[in-house]
Amino acid sequence: MDPAVCPPGSDPVSDPHDPSQVTRRSVLAGAAGLAVGPLLSGCTAPPIPPAPHAEGEAPPRPMPVPSARAAVKVNLRINGQTHAAELEPRVTLLDALREHLHLTGTKKGCDHGQCGACTVLVDGRRINSCLTLAIMHQNADITTIEGLAHGDQLHPVQAAFIEHDAFQCGYCTPGQICSAVGLIHEDTRRPTTTSAKG
Ligand code: FES
Repeated sequence: MDPAVCPPGSDPVSDPHDPSQVTRRSVLAGAAGLAVGPLLSGCTAPPIPPAPHAEGEAPPRPMPVPSARAAVKVNLRINGQTHAAELEPRVTLLDALREHLHLTGTKKGCDHGQCGACTVLVDGRRINSCLTLAIMHQNADITTIEGLAHGDQLHPVQAAFIEHDAFQCGYCTPGQICSAVGLIHEDTRRPTTTSAKG
């Protein structure tokens, strides 16, 4: 047997079910061993055999995999203006807005789709810009907090936030406002009970 391949079912740590062996120290050591054990002991996954091909035929060449790090040209229509940028395909819409196009009104909170600070409108629908890739929105109309006001005239939701002192710390206010604007749009697009009945 290849000594570099772990035998099936092998366990690099001592038996955790033997109460005589289990201590807090051994549990922690066992967890660390599980994480790095295969690396330290040289264990590797068994090699995947090549796909069979007919005798005399050249073996199929592996498909080129596009690099997630190679920048590509991307055009984004944001607040009615087209922005050209060279972005790696893995760049999120949030990072494209903030880091590449310097539209910093959209905020990064959790970066995991949980807080909503990064909410923008894409074709009128609210989305978490930290959970979507910029390259996916090349034909869309993107609206950020910077695009809601018309010059000095605030969007009614922005004005309402000021009038009713709706801020908390203010960090996620742009996301809250974009979300509210999207919600109102969604509500006006929803068929009423009468129209749904025909
Ligand atoms: S940054 Fe929190 S949901 Fe996107």
